[in-house]
Amino acid sequence: MTKQEKYQTLLPQIEALVAGETDAIANMANVAAALHEAFGFWWTGFYRVRNEGVSELASKGKGELVLGPFQGSVACTRIPYGRGVCGTAWQRAETVIVPNVHEFAGHIACSSASNSEIVVPILHDGRVVAVLDIDSTDFGTFDDTDKYFLEKIVAFL
Ligand code: SME
Repeated sequence: MTKQEKYQTLLPQIEALVAGETDAIANMANVAAALHEAFGFWWTGFYRVRNEGVSELASKGKGELVLGPFQGSVACTRIPYGRGVCGTAWQRAETVIVPNVHEFAGHIACSSASNSEIVVPILHDGRVVAVLDIDSTDFGTFDDTDKYFLEKIVAFL
């Protein structure tokens, strides 16, 4: 099965999985599990924008990203606005694809095994409320096909 076919099969399954549930954490947990299992990624999970905490940006209402439901190894719990791939996707409010994380200035290495990454922001009413972060041990794993389908998947949340 090609990557596109895998996503096409997964898309209605994920839509059905989250359709009957209103709790965002429960839905993020199942989406992380479904993606992780289908593709065998290294790390698949969510960070949620939280305004409490110790970030110097908290006073400006930006807050920070706090670790949410995920599949994979233990990870960094808090990421400031504009920092790392996750904080950059949040700041830009657009998907960021990194073919080689070692060449991304400011990349936050939660695991030395990760070599490429995609971060997809989740927007509600024009504001980023969370990001989906996926890491791969291979270089150049993610492309516009992943962007296209992952943006559709997070729109269900
Ligand atoms: N690499 C991310 C941090 C999160 S971990 O990959 C799970 C970043 O640079 O934002």
